[in-house]
Amino acid sequence: MSSIDSTSTSTSPRSFSRCVANWRETEGKGAESERQRISRDIHDSTIQPYIGLKFALEALARKVPPDHPLAKDIGKLVDMTTMEIAGLRRYVNGLKGQLGGKDETLGSILEQKAARFAEIFNIKVSVEVAQEGNVESWLADDICHMMGEALSNIRRHTNALFARVRLTCDSRMLTLEIINPRDRGVALHMFTPRSIAERALALGGRCKVETGSGRYTVVIIEILLLP
Ligand SMILES: Nc1ncnc2c1ncn2[C@@H]1O[C@H](COP(=O)(O)OP(=O)(O)O)[C@@H](O)[C@H]1O
Ligand SMILES: [Mg+2]
Repeated sequence: MSSIDSTSTSTSPRSFSRCVANWRETEGKGAESERQRISRDIHDSTIQPYIGLKFALEALARKVPPDHPLAKDIGKLVDMTTMEIAGLRRYVNGLKGQLGGKDETLGSILEQKAARFAEIFNIKVSVEVAQEGNVESWLADDICHMMGEALSNIRRHTNALFARVRLTCDSRMLTLEIINPRDRGVALHMFTPRSIAERALALGGRCKVETGSGRYTVVIIEILLLP
């Protein structure tokens, strides 16, 4: 896939990345207890109400006969709340420094999230883990958020029926590509996915957008990993 145009939303000086890593390393115990406090707050103020909402929606779904015109939409809302609760739980676990299950890897987390997205929104998503990375849970969580936002952008801003995600991670660099076919008849316009770019920058990395052979849109996230 060749690039005919690209925008780069940040440069990624290694020193900045090192600075971020040092900052994380030296956060110390104060930050640790702060993370624990935030994770408890998110649990109480967000996850619990979401679970309440999910129960209410499930109760509503049971009252609506399966052939009712709203039955499918209500089912989707139940699925969406389930997906959000799973994402919030993962986030809280990330704050506590835990990946989910013992066999969980970044690739498997991305696959699960992409599969849930595909099921809910009827957009086929294939995830290729070209090279699996051994990354810490806070980073896995950030990467997962960025993929979610890129997929959500594809759903909201294009007519694409499929997307591809490609993860490559070696000891030096983590690269995540989210690719979708470009809509026919729509003039080429380059864009910057703002929250993805900001999150990548905060990690000492960058986000760029390329048009693969003019037929695809490729959002590329690169995060420099330190030895
Ligand atoms: N995959 C995509 N294909 C085409 N345009 C996109 C894609 N992703 C994002 N965009 C464009 O980039 C803009 C900025 O995206 P973003 O910063 O995520 O903001 P938002 O999704 O809230 O509009 C979008 O409004 C849209 O015009
Ligand atoms: Mg968006």
